[in-house]
Amino acid sequence: MTHEKILDLIHQAQAQLAFSYAPYSGFLVGAALLTKDGKVFTGCNIENAAFTPGNCAERTAFFKAISEGVHDFQAICIVGGTGGKLSSYTPPCGVCRQVMMEFCSPDTFEIILAVSPEDYKVYLLKDLLPFGFGPGSLKDG
Ligand code: THU
Repeated sequence: MTHEKILDLIHQAQAQLAFSYAPYSGFLVGAALLTKDGKVFTGCNIENAAFTPGNCAERTAFFKAISEGVHDFQAICIVGGTGGKLSSYTPPCGVCRQVMMEFCSPDTFEIILAVSPEDYKVYLLKDLLPFGFGPGSLKDG
């Protein structure tokens, strides 16, 4: 992916912090999910007074895309921090990694963790979820 595209995803993820609904943790998260044909679905975390119904920013982005019939993804950018201040990388939680495993190739799907346009890291899904259980695991052989 080009550096320019990465910067665009970082900006779109950062813009989502304004929509994050996180009154309980105070930890704001934004995500920007890039499809294989170049479209971007964004997401923020959405908490709940009953706690467990809360949703991470990454899954918000995935579920928006899936609900519109899009299933082919290249990359996701994630930013987060207390009060929306980005001071370290925000790696995806285990549940979000498993959702990625459902729809993305572990060998090619890129996960961009950013603190700023100048400070980011790119991982492959297989690095963050080694030996993952996915749709292929349910097939014979
Ligand atoms: N959160 C995300 O949205 N994505 C992550 O990758 C890590 C955690 C949210 C969930 C919750 O609203 C808040 O951050 C604190 O855990």
